[in-house]
Amino acid sequence: MRHQIILALTAVIAMTGMSSQARERQCFDHHWRFLLGDSVQMADADYNDSWWRLLDVPHDWAIEGDFHVGNPSGAGGGALPGGIGWYRKSFTVDKSAVNYYLEFDGVYMNSTVYVNGQEVGFRPYGYSSFEYDITPYVHEGKNVVAVRVDNSDQPNSRWYSGCGIYRHVWLTKTNAIHVKHWGTKVTSSPPESGGARGGLKSGKWRVGIEVELEAVQTTPLIGTPSAGGKKVTVKNSLIAPNGQIVGRSKGLKSSMTINNPLLWSCEQPNVYTVLTEVWQGGKLVDTYETPTGFRSFRFDPQTGFWLNGKNFKINGVCEHHDFGCLGSALNEDALHRKLSRLKAMGVNSIRSSHNPPAPELLNMCDTMGLIVMDESFDMWRRKKTQNDYARFFEEWHERDLTDLVLRDRNHPCILMWSIGNEVLEQWSSADADELTLEQANLILNAGHDASTLAKDGEALSPNALLTIHLANIVKRHDPAGRPVLAGCNEPDPGNHLFKSGAIDIIGFNYHHQWVKDVSQKFPGKPFIFSESVSALQTRGYYKMPSDSITWAPKEWWLPYTDPSFMCSAYDNMHASWSSTHEETWDVVKHTPFVGGQYIWTGFDYIGEPTPYGFPARSSYFGVIDLAGFPKDSYYMYQSEWTQKPVLHLFPHWNWVPGDEIDMWCYYNNADEVELFVNGESKGVRRKTGEKTEGRYAMHNETVPLNTEYHVGWRVIFDPGEVKVVARKDGKVVGEQVIKTAGAPAKIRLSKDYQGKNTTFITAEVVDKDGNLCPWAEDQIVFISEGTGHIIGTDNGCQTSMENFKSPQRKAFFGKCMVVVTGKGSITAKSPTLLPDVIEF
Ligand code: GAL
Repeated sequence: MRHQIILALTAVIAMTGMSSQARERQCFDHHWRFLLGDSVQMADADYNDSWWRLLDVPHDWAIEGDFHVGNPSGAGGGALPGGIGWYRKSFTVDKSAVNYYLEFDGVYMNSTVYVNGQEVGFRPYGYSSFEYDITPYVHEGKNVVAVRVDNSDQPNSRWYSGCGIYRHVWLTKTNAIHVKHWGTKVTSSPPESGGARGGLKSGKWRVGIEVELEAVQTTPLIGTPSAGGKKVTVKNSLIAPNGQIVGRSKGLKSSMTINNPLLWSCEQPNVYTVLTEVWQGGKLVDTYETPTGFRSFRFDPQTGFWLNGKNFKINGVCEHHDFGCLGSALNEDALHRKLSRLKAMGVNSIRSSHNPPAPELLNMCDTMGLIVMDESFDMWRRKKTQNDYARFFEEWHERDLTDLVLRDRNHPCILMWSIGNEVLEQWSSADADELTLEQANLILNAGHDASTLAKDGEALSPNALLTIHLANIVKRHDPAGRPVLAGCNEPDPGNHLFKSGAIDIIGFNYHHQWVKDVSQKFPGKPFIFSESVSALQTRGYYKMPSDSITWAPKEWWLPYTDPSFMCSAYDNMHASWSSTHEETWDVVKHTPFVGGQYIWTGFDYIGEPTPYGFPARSSYFGVIDLAGFPKDSYYMYQSEWTQKPVLHLFPHWNWVPGDEIDMWCYYNNADEVELFVNGESKGVRRKTGEKTEGRYAMHNETVPLNTEYHVGWRVIFDPGEVKVVARKDGKVVGEQVIKTAGAPAKIRLSKDYQGKNTTFITAEVVDKDGNLCPWAEDQIVFISEGTGHIIGTDNGCQTSMENFKSPQRKAFFGKCMVVVTGKGSITAKSPTLLPDVIEF
């Protein structure tokens, strides 16, 4: 029999099977056998899996499949396959430890884990991390773990989820007494704040540390018991970023004082570590590391967001978890590339929409200085797609939300928790259960009448009570008391979530026309855009005239069609509920109480190809396309959000002679820009000042050619070159030239991003002089040599039906991407182009 008990410090416990080694956490990713198929026998320890495919996890089987209109995920889920798959792995257990734990960072979805043929546990939510104590199931020698993953009931997501063991797996061995899984709570309290502006006085910070121990009294399966009572002590050391120990404490609940620590900020993300040691009878029996940081922040109803006494906007993006052609299989290099590209744009925050992120995302956000809004669910009781998590919510929400907070609460990067995105419980009733995937998404953004909202003086509704219940789960487990919010698209105080009083920050998704009323409708409450923009863009495609705005669809219930299946990369196209990039940024920038925004989205993602249906199969919302190439709006943000000099002229200069073309330019650090077509000036432009009215207007039909954020010229195309010159105080500070490209002549390869194991290589189709051919669609074949190999190809085209694992890819507006792992070289060939080769 097994008991788990929480120890009082210095408890004396009869221990069994002690070993003197501290815990050991091993990566358990390698040498799994995989089969797409299903049989009860696959759980058996002696099942013959030798004919199954051998692979390492993280793995996503859906990304290997072909796009098909008949796949039950639908275009909204990426039109890729689902199904049931099994993973099996053998491992050896020796006598070195007492307890064995198997930890899964994420399995999508409905995973059942068996050890030596016995069921250990079931976990429906595909985004939760979970750990099983497998000690009772293992024996000395060879053991087998089998995992059944069932993603057959589809659609169950409004975006591409991926299928399989798509995050890391860990095997942890401990002694009988050890720190419980996610069993530490570390908080840091700032010295007294320095006045109304929240400035920090230099001084002493208090670090509070709570450690929960777990002790197992058992007849061990392994080793010989050696009973004995020995004193247990817990010691904590606080380790500074330079590796020095700067504080010590003792006990299950302890504290220390730190003088003038290095603060955690977006610019200098100083991460400290608490090293917890558990000693028993003079032996070190466990060690456990917890990240922490020192920062103070607040959301102010009048002045917005403050971090360490500095008032600035949260320039956030929402991100789904996929990595384009690599699918949802976690790849640290791809994640780092994603976050670095966003950071270079000026992004300072990520919303893990709409589910718990990979632990590695939080580790990177800690060290890269990216604030995180950690989000739990896209639905509560009421479903948005036929088979989604709503069917598990009643039974599992407490466990899943608790686990999210326990796992993540110590990360300095997390500044707020979101308990849900656009949940239908905002209203008294909603008919989403009967809607199709596309309709469900659209209705969320439509207006709802007053009869579906809470009334003044009315008792709290079940939906409001549910909100309180969820917020309380978070507050119970987060000792730091971070604010709780939800992504709400009903901007009325009668929204049952707001009505509950449990929401600390009013967060709207979209609805920028209501922002001006926030302080009157929600007095004393801080505000941010929990989600914003949803502009629609295809990299490289330009719909003219650029000053005319297309809403696609015009109204949420109408279809939108365009045979091109593309959206315009000028900032002049968005969905009916949303805005251009400039419109929302203008509201955020010029409304002091708005703490910031989370743009939908940083990168394009697979699935949700609004405004189109199949064959569109990935989104148009990103500021960066699915292959990782920035769209033009990237530079608008960069010019506003960073100090980096920006001069970005677009589009290209390859049109039909005589065509009327709109040239746009994003710039900063200059007073004016002048455009020249083949040497002839087309005029000097300056960005306009702030507008005085119309900031909160919705449904604008036009955008001026010159705004506070861009300038434009309407010119007649004449082959040759177009040049923009930027001047400050009369001096030239920047220049950009775009030449008319000649016929496609060769391929040019260059490194887009070099990670530790994964390299992203750009292939461009250029003319004989090296100018990018902006209309090129040549089929490019990649051949890898050496020990490395190709793991994906992409071009950012939302309707490409080429398999993501194919070693060839058509250029899309002149470019595509090949992703490789290991070391070697890539040769790129195409029938009519000169090849190129690059080492990686
Ligand atoms: C929001 C929703 C997102 C995405 C977006 C598209 O309402 O939260 O998940 O669907 O709309 O505009």
